[in-house]
Amino acid sequence: MDMTPFEQWESEVRGYCRAFPTVFASASNARQVAEDGTSYLDFFGGAGVLNFGHNNPRMKRAMIEFLEADGVAHSLDTYTTTKRQFVSRFAEVILEPRGMDHKLQFTGPTGTNAVEASLKLARRVTGRQNVVAFSHGFHGMTLGSLAATGNDVFRRAAGVPLPFIDRLPFETAPGGGIEALHAYRAALDDSSSGLRPPAAFLVEVVQAEGGVHVASEAWLKAVQDLAHDVGALFIIDDIQAGCGRTGSYFSFDGMDLDPDIVNLAKGIGGYGTPLAMNLNKPEHDAHWAPGEHTGTFRGQGLSFVAGTEALAYFTDDELMTTVAAHGEVMRERLQRIADANPSQGWQVRGRGMLQGIDLGDGALAKQVQASAFAHGLLIGPCGSGGRVVKLIPPLTIDADDLTEGLDLLEKAVAEAQGAV
Ligand SMILES: Cc1ncc(COP(=O)(O)O)c(C=O)c1O
Repeated sequence: MDMTPFEQWESEVRGYCRAFPTVFASASNARQVAEDGTSYLDFFGGAGVLNFGHNNPRMKRAMIEFLEADGVAHSLDTYTTTKRQFVSRFAEVILEPRGMDHKLQFTGPTGTNAVEASLKLARRVTGRQNVVAFSHGFHGMTLGSLAATGNDVFRRAAGVPLPFIDRLPFETAPGGGIEALHAYRAALDDSSSGLRPPAAFLVEVVQAEGGVHVASEAWLKAVQDLAHDVGALFIIDDIQAGCGRTGSYFSFDGMDLDPDIVNLAKGIGGYGTPLAMNLNKPEHDAHWAPGEHTGTFRGQGLSFVAGTEALAYFTDDELMTTVAAHGEVMRERLQRIADANPSQGWQVRGRGMLQGIDLGDGALAKQVQASAFAHGLLIGPCGSGGRVVKLIPPLTIDADDLTEGLDLLEKAVAEAQGAV
């Protein structure tokens, strides 16, 4: 396999290809096949993009029909037939059954752009500057969302200060919990604390890149109540945990939560085609003037076509029931791995098909990734120092492939322990 063009011409910043040193040639559902014919089970799933698998057949068919009919592939934010289908279907399948009347704001097609837009809107609505973000949170790589991101390696790469964020500990982080929220509230009440009331609280229900940390409904409700008590917006970043990943469309479904803004990206484009969108409560959305947050790629025909097909998975319970069952299988296996190594204190965390095992050691997790790759399994470590092995296979994975991937993981962990 010829990797010379990448090594000769591509930037040093390339990352995942170093952990997966091969050239992938084709892909189907939860498998990718390299040029040398090696088949890999993909438990990395495009970092949470490929919820419906590689080359989902229903989406592929719809996209081919769209291309053959000369559908409008690029549209900025002009009206198109495919965009109308997506917007109408999203309202019908996702918003209306939940009694949500949020407006759909399409942003540039990456998650970070959706987060940037939500920060701007919260600041506009409240006339305030600072936003509360939480330790271990991951919100993107551009300056505004990077300021809200906790990871030190990414932050240092900014090269400039990352201001206008007040950092609180996430529920499960050191110093976290309801008491930390009480302390922050008390400080805001103290006119000499030096704190100004924030524009928003930005939070993930399940922190994914940050190390698979799961917040409780009670804590999230306390964050929401605090936000509203101090006149701030409550923003949920559901970019990785949303779109069915945790067993329901939104990661906060079934909780007593009513976010002012929801950030969505990754899985909503369906096929791996880029699309990002904020759901803004109408009273907040009314603060935007036309064209104030623009972007060239806000109307991807192919993403709308595939994304509309993806919504069909949420018209009945079939896929979400499978996600719950597969999530349990994943969790049990990770727990078995942890239980087999009781002296290590490994922790299993997650919800639905977003599960992780915290190995407490980045070097070990990296070795597990390398061993897994050698056996034909793609996984990506995350969390502080990369110590958590995170599993995010396509939600549509076959039960046999899921079992095979977990077998490979178990083997890789045993092998890695011998190697480090
Ligand atoms: C929760 C969350 N927010 C924001 C982002 C940024 O998305 P993107 O990489 O598409 O900019 C990510 C990406 O991993 C994410 O997981």
